[in-house]
Formats: sequence, C-alpha cells, structure tokens
Amino acid sequence: EMAQKGGYPHFMLKEIHEQPEAVRNTLFEVSDIKKIVSQFPEFKRVTFVACGTSYHASLVGKYLFEGLLGLPTDVILASEFEFSEKAIDPHALVIFISQSGETADTLKALRIANKKAKTLAIVNVLGSTATREADYVIFTRAGPEIGVAATKTYISQLTCIYLLAACMCQDEELLEELQKIPDCMKAVLSLEDEIKEMAGKYKDAQDFFFIGRGFSYPTALEGALKLKEITYIHGEGYAAGELKHGPLALIDDDVPVVAVVPPGKSHDRTLSNVQEVKARGARVIGLGSEDDPVLSSEASDMVEFPHQIPELLSPLLYVVPLQLLAYHISVQRGIDPDKPKNLAKCVTVE
Ligand code: G6P
Repeated sequence: EMAQKGGYPHFMLKEIHEQPEAVRNTLFEVSDIKKIVSQFPEFKRVTFVACGTSYHASLVGKYLFEGLLGLPTDVILASEFEFSEKAIDPHALVIFISQSGETADTLKALRIANKKAKTLAIVNVLGSTATREADYVIFTRAGPEIGVAATKTYISQLTCIYLLAACMCQDEELLEELQKIPDCMKAVLSLEDEIKEMAGKYKDAQDFFFIGRGFSYPTALEGALKLKEITYIHGEGYAAGELKHGPLALIDDDVPVVAVVPPGKSHDRTLSNVQEVKARGARVIGLGSEDDPVLSSEASDMVEFPHQIPELLSPLLYVVPLQLLAYHISVQRGIDPDKPKNLAKCVTVE
C-alpha cells in the first residue's frame, strides 16, 4: 500500500497533488467531445443530474451553460429526480455526472431519463453501468481514485464540463485558457504549507460556514462537504446572499467563515458579506486574488491566487485549498481521511 501511495501518507493527499495531471489528461478528451457535439440535435435546455461532489460539479455546469450558451439549465439531485419526471423536456440534454458510473440513485434517474430525452454520461470508470446505458459518454480521465472523498475526479468532471461548453459554443479562446489550468494549479498546490498551518489554527472549531456567489457558490458547497466528510466538523456551504435570511443568527467568534471571493461580478457583494460576518466576531479565511488589499485586510487568514484567473475558471482552482484545508484538519484531528466513518466510495443502494 505504501508503494501505491507514491510516498504520500494518504491516498487523498496523493490524489489532490495529481490534479494538475488529471486536468491535463482530461483535456485530451477534447477531440472526442467535438465528435460527440457534432452529433447532437438542437437542444432547448440542459438538465444535470448527480449526487454528492458530482452534484457540485453540475452546479458549476449550470452557471457555465447559462452564461456561455444562454441555455436554461437545471440541476437535479439524482435521488430527487423521480419527482420531476413529468417535467423532463424531450428537447433537453440530460447530463449525468458520476465518478463511479454505479451510484444507484443516478442509475435509476438515468433509466427514467432515457425514456424521455437524450442522455449524456460523464463518468470516470470505464465500462461502468452508466457508460453502457447513456446515449452519449464522455470520460473524465482522472485515473483511479481511492480516497472516499472525491478530489481529482471532481476537477476532471469540471474540466469535462468546461470542454463540453466550449465545444458547444465553439469558444476557442476558452479552450486555450483551459490549457493554462494545470500550471496555475501547481502554483496553488505550492501553498500547502500555509494551509497546513491554517488547519492548526481552526481545527478545534465545531462549525464552519463557507460562502460564495455565482461560480463560487458550488466551491463553497464542495469545501463544506469535504470538511464534513473527513473531519466530522459541521460545515455549511451557503450562497453568500442568503446569509441574511437565517444563518447570520448563528455567526459569532466561534464560527469561522471561509469566503470564496475571486475578482469579478460576485466580488463586491461577497466582500460586504465578509464585513457582515466580521462585525459579528467571525474569523474569516479569505480566498481571493493576490491583489485584493481590502479582502486581505478584512480576512484573518488569506489564500492568494494569481490575479489573472477569470471568475469563470475560478472553480477549477479555488476548490484546491479547501481540499487541503479539510485534509490537514482531518489528519491533525487524528482521523484517517481515506476512510471516513459511515461513508462509502460508491453508494449502490437508494
Ligand atoms: C459517494 C462518494 C462521494 C461521491 C458520491 C457520488 O457519496 O463518497 O465522493 O461524490 O458518492 O458518487 P458518483 O460515483 O456518482 O460520482
């Protein structure tokens, strides 16, 4: 097992560090994706269906498909899909995202959707059930993932979704931008020591909030999920604008808030939420651009990203420190992050 871990103490950490390579490998899918897209009929809308981390990748897909293609896009949890069955548009492309291709809820939804509309499965495991049953298939080439908490497969799913959107709207510029992601991600991974130190400061908190808007909202949800899964700390991901409708009542100096604040459309309003939670005593971990003096002065701790990353691409990079934060808190709390209690890598029951 030590040899399989390639010198890392856990599979999860190895898989986090494999992410630049996972993106690079998944980018090779572009020619297959172009072929698939050329066979598409005209779609009037897109519906994503998934569970867990794959659901968060789907949410990024919503912002992308609506923003780039202007296509109305829904995201439905696979376990809730049967309740929307009657409303499935026959002119929709129904996209199933699944690392394993075997999740029971996702397969059940796929079987319902197959009777109604064209289906596309974005899957990591070759030959899995979803790949045999969907009309179209795209592979995320992340390689095998052993850690129960998904990391590199999430990044590969996102990469596929960006490729798909770029191919559907023939956005060559976006395809080029994506080529830069692996190197940017390496730069983000080099912040690990800082994040490990941060983990030490926050590891005893009992509750965390993760906030973001637009493209950063799924990142907040995924950061909170990673924390819950492997540290057993309560982490709640929230659309920053919803804080005032309830959760603000829970904020005090015992509740750290992780704020995902890349430069762009969402920046100023999320920053004002940072000020609101600070006024109630919260310590804020800010994720933002290296040249954001206002955020860095408000935040107790700051993770700095290269300033040239466009907001649209930020989900691919901003999630990485949150994976590392959860990982290091987990280890510092004496938990084995590869084998969280009560959870399975693949859930084959409904
Ligand atoms: C389980 C795993 C998660 C995963 C989810 C969906 O809960 O622990 O990491 O996101 O299933 O799995 P899938 O294989 O369909 O992506």
